[in-house]
Amino acid sequence: MAETLRIERTTTPRARPNETDLGFGRQFTDHMLVVEYDEGRGWHSPRIVPYGPIALDPAAAVLHYGQELFEGMKAFRGKDGNVRLFRPDKNCRRMNEGAARLCMPEFDPAWMEELITELIRVEEDWVPRSPGTALYIRPTMIATEPFLGVRPSKKYTFFVILSPVGSYFSGGMAPVKIWVEPKYVRAARGGLGAVKTGANYAASLLAAEQAKKAGYAQVLWLDAAEHRWFEEVGTMNLFVKIGDEIVTPPLGGSILDGVTRDSVITLLRDWGMKVVERPIAIEEIATSFSRGELHEIFGTGTAAVISPVKELAFRGESFVVGNGEIGPVARRLYDTITGIQAGTLADPHEWVRSI
Ligand code: COI
Repeated sequence: MAETLRIERTTTPRARPNETDLGFGRQFTDHMLVVEYDEGRGWHSPRIVPYGPIALDPAAAVLHYGQELFEGMKAFRGKDGNVRLFRPDKNCRRMNEGAARLCMPEFDPAWMEELITELIRVEEDWVPRSPGTALYIRPTMIATEPFLGVRPSKKYTFFVILSPVGSYFSGGMAPVKIWVEPKYVRAARGGLGAVKTGANYAASLLAAEQAKKAGYAQVLWLDAAEHRWFEEVGTMNLFVKIGDEIVTPPLGGSILDGVTRDSVITLLRDWGMKVVERPIAIEEIATSFSRGELHEIFGTGTAAVISPVKELAFRGESFVVGNGEIGPVARRLYDTITGIQAGTLADPHEWVRSI
């Protein structure tokens, strides 16, 4: 039987931010959820407390060996004023599966979802109201044992913070130019690529910075072995429409099993479109481009939902996608997913949970 959740409310609530200028992940709500783990005792002392710094021993394992895991999901306020979570069960399950890969303790996904829902209820008033906004939810698990030997920690903290957000990309959904990275890789098969751990994002920074300096919004990651096969784009899963087929790379252990990726595949199948999970190489992009069959490329993720690509640059060559504008598939997916999230469209797969 899980321990009772303790709630300590802040005595100094902050003013709500201006919803026209939320940006992404810059502001945080009044409270956070904290749960602790000790070997032999399990997860204990769940509490919602005022938002604030976490005291860590400088020897805490997470600071040295990166034993860390996080998630990203969103709560939305509909036109009806109700707050809805989008597929939180999937995120909680993924976090629990990721924990096993990082030798972190199991965390019952149903309990995780219950605790997160409780936190959203406490912070309900922080869920923004304007179209395109949401409350971003960031569950995080860190190794806290003060010990410099390299082995799994015996102590952990799980915490959840919340951030009212606008569009991930300033300017909303707009097609971006992408740099196909020939040298650096995000993750290798057998590594941590399928796990939402900070290390994957640390690995991505240098190439992403270089791409930005060269005028590109994000990096498209190729596989680590042959530098040919598409993996992810920026922090997102990837879809390519060639002819009448929509292709996405298969989950081979080096890419993340995205919740939006799964939602997109499901919707495309619902619509009777041909969607296949199969490897896709840069050479196929070049061929389909020269045949005039490269119709759409887009990234999918919780933060941006759908991010269309207008151009790919690879080793001095440039491939313009479609006519360089938002394609009809990307547009329809964006409108459908955001409509389901807002509660204005039917939700046949029961993805949405009211709090
Ligand atoms: C997402 O697309 O949801 C992400 O994973 C981005 C996040 C790391 C900011």
